[in-house]
Amino acid sequence: MTKPLHVLFVCLGNICRSPTAEAVFKKIVQDHNLDAKFVIDSAGTAGHHEGEEADPRTIDHGLQRGYNVTSISRPFKNPKDFENFDYIVVMDEDNYSELLRFDSRKNYKTKIHKMVQFCKIHKLKIVPDPYYGGPEAFEHVIDVLEDACQGFFEKIKTEHNL
Ligand code: 4NP
Repeated sequence: MTKPLHVLFVCLGNICRSPTAEAVFKKIVQDHNLDAKFVIDSAGTAGHHEGEEADPRTIDHGLQRGYNVTSISRPFKNPKDFENFDYIVVMDEDNYSELLRFDSRKNYKTKIHKMVQFCKIHKLKIVPDPYYGGPEAFEHVIDVLEDACQGFFEKIKTEHNL
């Protein structure tokens, strides 16, 4: 059997956007009976929330939409995560430039992707940070991530003949 594809979603705190992306993408993969083909994880560029569950609003809104957000916040590990993961998918421009800064020799640039690139419905430059927003901000994040995760899944499925 070939090695599973390793996918890492990255945001700032790893308590709102990337844990949601992880849960949404895991559900799509499970619904296609492709669990064995993937390792799916998430991380933050900052470690302020290390060891914490996702934000309670992330967990609640996720559950209402059928997603089990179970991740525990951890910081991105340089260079281990660059080496271990095939696809590193970031939520905004700050996450992108931070990872490029970590990747000082530019060895891993081709592994880093912006989440919004995979959207088919939403035309956005970033997945907006809901942390200082209200309930509608958390709902919007799920809408955007469902769109993006579906597009990302289709791309990977085609690229890897799954
Ligand atoms: P996330 O959201 O990057 O989507 O997890 C945030 C979480 C925490 C903070 C900011 C954004 N914070 O400032 O603590």
